[in-house]
Amino acid sequence: MKTLIKNGTIITASDQYQADVLIEDETISTISAPGTKLDALGPIDKTIDARGKWVIPGGIDVHTHMELPFGGTVASDDFETGTIAAAFGGTTTIVDFAVQDQGGTAKQAWASWMSKAEGKAVIDYGFHIILREYSDAIGKEMGDLVKEGVTSFKLFMAYPGVFLMDDASILRTMQRSGEIGATICMHAEAGVPIDLLVKQAIAKGHTAPKYHALTRPPVLEAAGVHRAITLAQVADVPVYIVHVSAVEAMEQISEARDKGLPAYGETCPQYLFLSHDNYEEPGFEGSKYVMTPPLRDKAGWDAMWRALALNDLQVVSTDHCPFCFNGQKDLGKDDFSKIPNGAPGVETRMALLYDGGVRKGKISPTRWIDIASTTPAKIFGLYPKKGTIAPGSDADIVVFDPEKEHTLGVKTLHMRVDYNPYEGRKIRGVSETVLSRGRVVVENGKLQAKPGSGRFIRRAPRTI
Ligand code: URP
Ligand code: ZN
Ligand code: ZN
Repeated sequence: MKTLIKNGTIITASDQYQADVLIEDETISTISAPGTKLDALGPIDKTIDARGKWVIPGGIDVHTHMELPFGGTVASDDFETGTIAAAFGGTTTIVDFAVQDQGGTAKQAWASWMSKAEGKAVIDYGFHIILREYSDAIGKEMGDLVKEGVTSFKLFMAYPGVFLMDDASILRTMQRSGEIGATICMHAEAGVPIDLLVKQAIAKGHTAPKYHALTRPPVLEAAGVHRAITLAQVADVPVYIVHVSAVEAMEQISEARDKGLPAYGETCPQYLFLSHDNYEEPGFEGSKYVMTPPLRDKAGWDAMWRALALNDLQVVSTDHCPFCFNGQKDLGKDDFSKIPNGAPGVETRMALLYDGGVRKGKISPTRWIDIASTTPAKIFGLYPKKGTIAPGSDADIVVFDPEKEHTLGVKTLHMRVDYNPYEGRKIRGVSETVLSRGRVVVENGKLQAKPGSGRFIRRAPRTI
């Protein structure tokens, strides 16, 4: 099968230029000057005219939680609905989190999440493993999992009694990651003092959603990030800090990098477009924004965008973890600490970053691709198969209309959740045609792929 994408503007993390792209089966085979007679190499089965459009590598979202059990319920998107939504939003690979059960093993976690995804995903996927504890047996499993293409592990400094790992165990897990070439993703917050603040707030009757944010102040996120980077420095390994929300936390990463330490940071659209003000919405509406870490003051948005532009932060993922307003978020109606943490986002990331970042002049088109596709591919061992447009790379390609306007909302989006944090927001930029390994997944606003056509991707160790 040969597909030609002609007349488009290719954008990668390094270049913006006009060229035609020839795809043979699952792979990009040729990139050539516009109008080159590529059919001289043999008949073309499908031609996509991308005149006036951008041709970009598919987005890579390295932080999603499909079907995550959390707070007595389960995230509302499964691997079918969640990957369909991702594809409509221009994302062609996700890396999701498989969770080690209490008393369970890391390999059981992987097997369990493999079966959740099996036969459902329409785009490619990989897994990180969330570890709750460290032991020699788990260290051995980590080595085995790296060989299977599961090359990253998430640890928590938050949620005592549920996920929190003590510092000695974190240090030991980091040392092991250095031995096997794995990457540690850290949920960095000072979880023990936060837990005290939460209990004190509830005891005072401060039960509304906004107290979720008020009990997780920016300095306690920054303290967690500082501690995570210090432990990684002692273990002599890189560390990737997930979902950075506070400027103070971002500055810890930036200062460490200035000292030459291999610290990496990811933020998410919600920390660039939503703010603490959302918790003040009437009634229980604030629960829609209960996520961890929480939304911060909008005064910090510019600093976060600058950090992305200047490479103080390297990645934007989504932390997609949707819970319905009706029937899930309301588990915490009388106690904010019982509101399941998380919000939907897998479908809106690429367009929000384009509209609010590229069009507003905060980041360049190439930087957009870098933070949303190329650098995540490099950090999580997917590059150069994924994360770029080059001969030999997987044909994970999005034809993106940079002018088309659309309105974000439950009615226009595909995520399986009854609200959207950006409801009614008008933005420009639509992922019009989406290819995953050469297969058309989305075209003319319609899903074209079958559940199960996405594949588990064995990832390599990071390449940066
Ligand atoms: O609120 C969030 N972030 N929910 C998902 C779990 C996590 O910590 O990433
Ligand atoms: Zn987390
Ligand atoms: Zn998460």
